[in-house]
Amino acid sequence: MTKEKFLAIGVAVAVAVASSSAFAGAKDGAKGEDGDAKKGAKYFKKRCKACHSVKKGGKHKIGPKLFGVVGRKAGSTDFKRYLALKGSGIIWDDANLDGWLADPKKFGGNKKTKMSAKTKKAGDRADLIAFMKTLK
Ligand code: HEC
Repeated sequence: MTKEKFLAIGVAVAVAVASSSAFAGAKDGAKGEDGDAKKGAKYFKKRCKACHSVKKGGKHKIGPKLFGVVGRKAGSTDFKRYLALKGSGIIWDDANLDGWLADPKKFGGNKKTKMSAKTKKAGDRADLIAFMKTLK
């Protein structure tokens, strides 16, 4: 291979890598895919920690413990104060978590739920979901 050809390939690869990461950035926030767990952890500390524990063996607080929440049935811990989620039959996958976090009252269909926090930005929800996936 000539030196010129080698350089040309190198440039092409660099461009491809740069544009694919730009594309991932544009997709940021699509239902929990590509979320950033580290950012999610920070956000969680600010907005969720007062009501939820995340450690293995953690206790319920104002809301249920969230260790292992992704993939489990909604409202299925021994937390006593589920209002919206008990018996809802849904499973916490990315799409359901995204809907719940965006607007718990609306998604759960129960205005009395004590989960008051709405997460309006899709990117923040994606980060939170990525973080919750690490709780296992
Ligand atoms: C004021 C307290 C409060 C805050 C703040 C809060 N939650 Fe909740 N959360 C609750 C309560 C109460 C429930 C149970 C909802 C129900 O059934 O009515 C709940 C339920 C959940 C569930 C479902 C748990 C299960 O066992 O099915 C998830 C997931 C969740 N919250 C995530 C979050 C995240 C992420 C945040 C931060 C953006 C957050 N919550 C902020 C109180 C809170």
